[in-house]
Amino acid sequence: MEHWIRHLPKAELHLHIEGTLEPELMFELAKRNAVALRFGSIEEVRAAYQFADLQSFLDIYYEGAQVLLHEQDFYDLTWAYLERVQAQHVRHVEIFFDPQTHTDRGVPFETVIRGIHRALDDGERKLGISHQLIMCFLRHLSAEAAIATLEQALPFRDWIIGVGLDSSEVGHPPEKFVTAFARARAEGFLTVAHAGEEGPPEYVWQALDQLKVKRIDHGVRSIEDSALVERLRADAIPLTVCPLSNVKLCVYDTMEHHSLKELLNAGLCVTVNSDDPAYFGGYVNENFLAAHQALGLSKRELYRLARNSFEAAFLDDGSKETLIAELDTYVKSAAF
Ligand code: ADE
Ligand code: ZN
Repeated sequence: MEHWIRHLPKAELHLHIEGTLEPELMFELAKRNAVALRFGSIEEVRAAYQFADLQSFLDIYYEGAQVLLHEQDFYDLTWAYLERVQAQHVRHVEIFFDPQTHTDRGVPFETVIRGIHRALDDGERKLGISHQLIMCFLRHLSAEAAIATLEQALPFRDWIIGVGLDSSEVGHPPEKFVTAFARARAEGFLTVAHAGEEGPPEYVWQALDQLKVKRIDHGVRSIEDSALVERLRADAIPLTVCPLSNVKLCVYDTMEHHSLKELLNAGLCVTVNSDDPAYFGGYVNENFLAAHQALGLSKRELYRLARNSFEAAFLDDGSKETLIAELDTYVKSAAF
């Protein structure tokens, strides 16, 4: 079964590229860019990855990102991720980046996006992984700052499929960004938002009704509100769920208590993703395996999760059909 899961063709739709910064690369970039780190060794960095909640993670995640300064750094980060997930049979990726984490340190928007985009293009040509890029606004910063970031992105609009919302959720509800998201939609961007990770179901309602999102990132607390579950099901709004992240950040005390299976069996389009794999102990396959082991997911449920990852992707119907056909061929040949 483990082999079957590892080889399942899949897409990853919830992945922060800054969250793929492995300690080894952090040290290499710190040396290359003469950035001082407060950690003495790679082991010390890993030992610091014990989180009580989302904020305790974000503090260390923003700190780590300080080693990223030049276009080549963003290229190397993105390329390392693509090489890893190619080995995990990922066929399509939709990557988040947080421009404000870098522009607020004086790194130009253009430096960030050129490095990421060049690696994604190489990933398509050399590794056969298709891609989309989603720009996230940091919700702990102001709505005006989000609009200014949107304006910086306009010259690169062809490289960005949509905008999202991440960082500290509680106290920064989706409604704070209603104008920024309306402007983004008017400029032709699709919208997604982190909601219902630590925040209440009310934030998911706001993301749907006020930000007009096409997908909800996390959304696991939707299970607390049966009317919301029905809305997500009726409108076929996908949830990009990140099992290891939710346990690492104490949204659930154990994987056995995760709502993924319940959400899936309620008829929602649930997908499995890694969020910030360098920090949470695994890439997408480890998330599939951890959820499978703790929740006893059947092959049929695992197939559904992989299929959902293609159906929920921001791809045209033809591309989705090709990917689903590949999945079906795999499942048939592997004696489903
Ligand atoms: N930024 C990176 N990972 C995040 C998460 N899980 N929630 C909110 N913001 C994030
Ligand atoms: Zn996330």
